[in-house]
Amino acid sequence: MPRTTRKVPKQLEQRARLTAPQGLIYRAGWQPDARFRTAVCGRRFGKTFLAVEEMRRACRLAVQRNVPPENEIWYAAPNFKQAKRVFWRRLKRGIPSTWLASKPNETDCSMLLTSGHIVRCVGLDNYDALRGSGLWFVIVDEWADCPPEAWTETLQPMLSTTSGHALFIGTPKGYDHLRDSYIDGQPGGSLDARSFMFTTLQGGQVSTDELQKARSRLDPRTFRQEYEASFETFAGRVLYAFNRADSVRPMPLDANRPLLLGIDFNVNPMSCSVWHQAGDVLHQVDEIVLPSSNTDDLVAEIRRRYARNGLLQHITAYPDPAGAQRRTSAGGRTDIAILQASGMRVVAMSSHPLVRDRLNITNARFCSADGSRRAFVDPRCVKSIECYERLAYREGTNEPDKSSGYDHLVDCCGYLMFGLYAYKSPQAQHINVFGR
Ligand SMILES: Nc1ncnc2c1ncn2[C@@H]1O[C@H](COP(=O)(O)OP(=O)(O)OP(=O)(O)O)[C@@H](O)[C@H]1O
Ligand SMILES: [Mg+2]
Repeated sequence: MPRTTRKVPKQLEQRARLTAPQGLIYRAGWQPDARFRTAVCGRRFGKTFLAVEEMRRACRLAVQRNVPPENEIWYAAPNFKQAKRVFWRRLKRGIPSTWLASKPNETDCSMLLTSGHIVRCVGLDNYDALRGSGLWFVIVDEWADCPPEAWTETLQPMLSTTSGHALFIGTPKGYDHLRDSYIDGQPGGSLDARSFMFTTLQGGQVSTDELQKARSRLDPRTFRQEYEASFETFAGRVLYAFNRADSVRPMPLDANRPLLLGIDFNVNPMSCSVWHQAGDVLHQVDEIVLPSSNTDDLVAEIRRRYARNGLLQHITAYPDPAGAQRRTSAGGRTDIAILQASGMRVVAMSSHPLVRDRLNITNARFCSADGSRRAFVDPRCVKSIECYERLAYREGTNEPDKSSGYDHLVDCCGYLMFGLYAYKSPQAQHINVFGR
């Protein structure tokens, strides 16, 4: 009988070729001045791809250097589900089956090597539960989204017995621990830390065409953060892309054209901004601010100002989704039910957008990273202009300062823009930078 030889699938035979910037990060590994590496890179740079090669090398070195097998090799992500989804299949493809002592364990996403070492995927949300072994190497992917204590309280002590190495990778998310690790790896930082920074473009995986699309879709600060790997702070004006010189342009309200409303339900003040849409461009033409009021009063005011033959069918409202629960009327109806009963079309979002996402999309409409402006405000909207100009972040936080009272009209504008340009019904959700 002829001996059958197991055929190795083609993709296993072909070893990955790292790009030049990936190679720079990789080659610095396991040098004495780079025990702790940090790679800060734009989205889709190839961070996770590099992680596979790093895992392979760590396995090889553990064997070559006779590292006691109780020291494990980990890929860590913000949570286990994410580690499994993003990396487990790639890891199984990256580690040759001849290195394995048994079949990969699909439940805890681990592999036992013939040398006795264990390679596994872990989630850092539950970092306390991870103690118990030594560590030879750990890659922390999306480090900005992991709790910093996972390093100081769990990973760093576990690496100490073998003088193990670590690589942190991620896309910036403000002035946080990813930035601290980055700074620590720069000249003047720790002697055993090295850090790198590369943009998405340098990664070479995303075409200039795609980047251009992102530039026109995102506000400048978000683009710099996500694609240019820049650490951006939240400070100063919340709607930083709005400015009086470029964003304020006259436009009369035309009650014969369709109207779009952004609505923030408040008792004091009940707020609403009113817009025309022409193609891709929005123009605010009016504002309604009613002190000590309720949703019935708002509907009455809308009817008084804009009804056509007593009807509101030409109006589409984008209200605060919280209005699906709130019952402020005497009859116990929700705010959104009151709007719907008025005859307007109501786009009721089933989930609350993150404040950050709402603000990013609003800024992107006022001015996107490629400099185009797609939202304007009529000069008669005096209160709105004041709010757009004045709402600021509370010092040292990324929270808009609500005590100023400038937030309500900004919220109105945000619900409308998010609803129009970013909201996907739950069936149509897909992964994008929003919500990161
Ligand atoms: N050296 C390479 N050779 C071939 N393809 C690559 C290389 N590096 C990355 N890629 C491909 O580019 C795409 C993005 O890579 P990867 O998922 O590693 O990026 P990422 O930086 O982790 O992205 P994200 O920011 O979404 O986490 C993937 O399809 C990956 O297979
Ligand atoms: Mg990744």
